[in-house]
Amino acid sequence: MSIKYVPEPFRIKMVETIKMLSRKEREQKIAEAKYNVFNLRGEDVYIDLLTDSGTNAMSQEQWAGIMRGDESYAGAGSYFKLVEAGRDIFDYQYIQPVHQGRAGEKVLFGLLMGEGQYAISNMFFDTTRAHVELAGARAIDCVVPEAGDPNLRVPFKGNMDVEKLEQLILKHGPEKIALVIMTITNNSAGGQPVSIRNMRDTAAVCKKYEIPLNIDAARYAENAYFIKQREEEFKDKYIKEIIREMFSYGDMFTMSAKKDSIVNIGGLIGIKNDGELYQLIKGRTISYEGYVTYGGLAGRDLEAMAVGLYEGLDEDYLKYRIGQMEYLAGRLDEAGITYQAPVGGHGVFLDAKAMFPHIPYYEFPGQALAIELYKEAGIRSCDIGSYMLGNDPDTGEQLHAEFEFTRLAIPRRVYTQAHLDIVADALINIKKRADSVKGYRITWEPPVLRHFQASLEPIE
Ligand code: F0G
Repeated sequence: MSIKYVPEPFRIKMVETIKMLSRKEREQKIAEAKYNVFNLRGEDVYIDLLTDSGTNAMSQEQWAGIMRGDESYAGAGSYFKLVEAGRDIFDYQYIQPVHQGRAGEKVLFGLLMGEGQYAISNMFFDTTRAHVELAGARAIDCVVPEAGDPNLRVPFKGNMDVEKLEQLILKHGPEKIALVIMTITNNSAGGQPVSIRNMRDTAAVCKKYEIPLNIDAARYAENAYFIKQREEEFKDKYIKEIIREMFSYGDMFTMSAKKDSIVNIGGLIGIKNDGELYQLIKGRTISYEGYVTYGGLAGRDLEAMAVGLYEGLDEDYLKYRIGQMEYLAGRLDEAGITYQAPVGGHGVFLDAKAMFPHIPYYEFPGQALAIELYKEAGIRSCDIGSYMLGNDPDTGEQLHAEFEFTRLAIPRRVYTQAHLDIVADALINIKKRADSVKGYRITWEPPVLRHFQASLEPIE
């Protein structure tokens, strides 16, 4: 094996049994699930790479925090501990807990945008796009063109296309652009990082046209690790210093803490210094989430998040974490299987278009590969392509995604090298019979976020 696996910087104190069903059972389960991986039961999955969100293994310090959580309705000690951690790491004055990332989006976006307006991002994640649309506005993706070529190995494929951003602002008029959103790392483009230089340039354009800049900060620590590896200016900085620099370019952030804060539930809104905006956020939090000092969470969840925010910054952990991605990607390189390269921070995004060139976008190659992986070895992954993107909200027509990825999202501190080898071997087997894999059609879909609930059938 040419690529080295970075050993786990922890040992295991508690285990959870998993088991692989027979091929016949797996074929039956996925058919019963109407070929939608979200309909599978967890117990029928052997290696679950559906998401890295909320699927993390907490540390003994976090579990100890769970026992210490203060369940006071108002003014819980756990809340103050969390706010202090957030202020210390991000250097923002106002930190509001919410139950997860999309709750933060709901609370914040409704205050900032409405009908006839736009939000522009380096790339929207599905729920973020949905909350822009639910607030009445329209979402526009503006990632650098390099992101569109999975084989092009450049260091910051998640960046905003700053020139295009300025053109879009001028085309629609600055008053029509309610918000610019920088997603770090850029999940939909493959967990690809954004450079500090790009954040600086984006912030300068926002300032010029007086448009607020929100950071969609789910994977802020992985992004900071890539900056340390790849951006000369930051090679000797601590991760925390890099994070502070990153956040200095935003006016606010929404964060799903279920990723880099290594918890199972939680989210944050951060406001750098706009006290009036924070006042409005408190009001909406109370309506939608719960009182300000718990934000839809139990006191124990606030406590675990306060600890996890710091654990996510540990460099030994980040080296192992990104090392897992590099190991799996290295095995795929050896087998000639393409993915969004260089590999991103939270998963391997397989290029399903390259694996199945005979399946057109409207027959969902990314979904077809996800189903094959389940049938092959009980591995659950998901489509990040045209199937997930859905229909145009105005015309109802199927959108053609820039990528057709199948995402192998790796939960934090959960799976071992041997599990990753099973994933690589399954893909090698699928590649051998790729010609015979068929596309899918949708037999039922809901109007928004359809991929969670839709029913499909194979096209014979
Ligand atoms: N922003 C980004 C970039 C995300 O990746 C997610 C969630 C959210 C916002 C919403 O956060 O789930 O806590 O409400 N991404 C998960 C995923 C679900 O699988 O990538 P949430």
